[in-house]
Amino acid sequence: MITRIIGTGSSLPSNLVTNDDLSKIMDTSDEWISSRTGIKERRLAKEETTASMAAEASRKALENAGISAEEIDLIIVGTITGDYVTPSTSCEIQAKLGAVNAVAFDVNAACSGFMFALHTAHIYLQSGIYKTALIIGAETLSKIMDWNDRSTCVLFGDGAGAAIVRAYAQARNEKGGLLAFEQGSDGAKGKVLACRDRVNNNPLIQNPLEPGYVSMDGQEVYKFAVGTVPASIIKVLEMSELKTEDIKYFVLHQANIRIIQSVAKRLKVSEEKFPLSLDHCGNISAASVPILLDEMNRKGMLKAGDKIVMSGFGAGLTWGTAVIEW
Ligand code: COA
Repeated sequence: MITRIIGTGSSLPSNLVTNDDLSKIMDTSDEWISSRTGIKERRLAKEETTASMAAEASRKALENAGISAEEIDLIIVGTITGDYVTPSTSCEIQAKLGAVNAVAFDVNAACSGFMFALHTAHIYLQSGIYKTALIIGAETLSKIMDWNDRSTCVLFGDGAGAAIVRAYAQARNEKGGLLAFEQGSDGAKGKVLACRDRVNNNPLIQNPLEPGYVSMDGQEVYKFAVGTVPASIIKVLEMSELKTEDIKYFVLHQANIRIIQSVAKRLKVSEEKFPLSLDHCGNISAASVPILLDEMNRKGMLKAGDKIVMSGFGAGLTWGTAVIEW
């Protein structure tokens, strides 16, 4: 079986917030944010929710793929900011789309969430259990930011991206679609980028803690990313017997321009092969990779036969990388 991405879609909130807008409500500046991160603006949700953006991105992906919601067998949403603890965002999407034949569940792998969803769908498709999957990365990160912590809240945005993946029978020796993937976790370092959920306040416990907001040791996260991501990319290239020269684009999680520049340098690859959306989106965790992929798809940047590396990395700590032939 070959797992191909056959459609993409994305959705951003309508409300645009520039670095200058932020500098009016906190002690920061466009110069500080742009020079350290490459981020110039982001969208922050007002009316939109994680599920509403995920549903819009999914409808666009279905249209792009030219298939109906009834054809979807599997829905996996990567998110850490669902609207409900339960039902899952994927069950909400199933209902919104009328994807009555799908099984639906979420994965919590933060900024690697879309990649983990892709890899999980790939395994189901390869095994022959399902034929068509809808995978989504969707986040309303603005609701878990500490808006008094200028070192984190300026980095993140809200939005959703989706892709339709489908299994195709493979002719003898034919290659294509998802060629190789690699993923990993390092839970021992989890606290460098964390957000505590609600605490137990059952009648046996008097717990003074409130639900938390995102806290981050930026320099530790930076070191993790620039060490792990190039190593993960090299692994998938070896697995698929490809070289960096064979890759048209490296579609990385959009956390920070400096991380992307460092990965490019370590791989000895031109930065031109690393497309960006962080300038206008900020970091949207699980949604970053599929939003960027959709932007590239709609600009006509992806041609049949192009080989593309996609990589997500972040809280957990987690990382996931795949090489695909478009
Ligand atoms: N505006 C203005 N000043 C700010 C600021 C802001 N938004 N946020 C922090 N500062 C100040 C700090 O208070 C500090 O001031 P001080 O020296 O007077 O104490 C100064 O800027 C430097 O802060 P520091 O945290 O050392 O900056 P840095 O060079 O490490 O850059 C990050 C911070 C977050 C940009 C950087 O660590 C980074 O990009 N890390 C990776 C984070 C990431 O991508 N996470 C998501 C991964 S999925």
